[in-house]
Amino acid sequence: MQNNKPFVIWFTGLSASGKTTLSEHLKLILSNIGLASVLFDGDTMRQGISKDLGFSDEDRKENIRRTAEMAKLAALSGVNAICALISPFLEDREAARHILSEYNFIEVFVDTPFEVCEKRDPKGFYKKARIREIIDFTGIDSIYEKPLNPEIRINTDEISTEDAVKMILDYLSGKELIS
Ligand code: ADX
Repeated sequence: MQNNKPFVIWFTGLSASGKTTLSEHLKLILSNIGLASVLFDGDTMRQGISKDLGFSDEDRKENIRRTAEMAKLAALSGVNAICALISPFLEDREAARHILSEYNFIEVFVDTPFEVCEKRDPKGFYKKARIREIIDFTGIDSIYEKPLNPEIRINTDEISTEDAVKMILDYLSGKELIS
């Protein structure tokens, strides 16, 4: 049972920074303590509801808007949401925060260094972006604006997934959003 307004955990960070891993783990742990949540991941959004969008600044803005509106629908139904998108622009993240202003919005900056993300490169995108096989790639030829005042900052190169998720849970319980 949750008495508070639903919360929305918004992960932002570079590709391969660890957003999806953290969000999936967080979802599992929340479920283990009896809290349902719904996960909106950039990759899955782009396979369906944002299928028509690419990676121009405008398309990213629209992708983020749609995700925030989906999270709002979840929250309206009393369900917590976890969003995991690069969401590289400050303005778009602030717009998401505004769309979700009636709920508890928690921005988690997955601040894994660029060099580490590029080295991980699980999908080979960094390599392709370096040789310009793909363009507008975040961190290479499209910018990432770091959050100025995120609620939580995590460097997955320094702490384990378990410890990072614990940081988020501690934050939630500190705010009495979970017990
Ligand atoms: S966002 O900028 O609109 O928030 P989103 O999180 O949905 O991005 O999608 C990012 C994922 O799309 C990356 O993890 C990567 O797998 C893939 N991708 C493909 N092309 C690009 C690109 N040009 N820039 C960033 N990510 C890309």
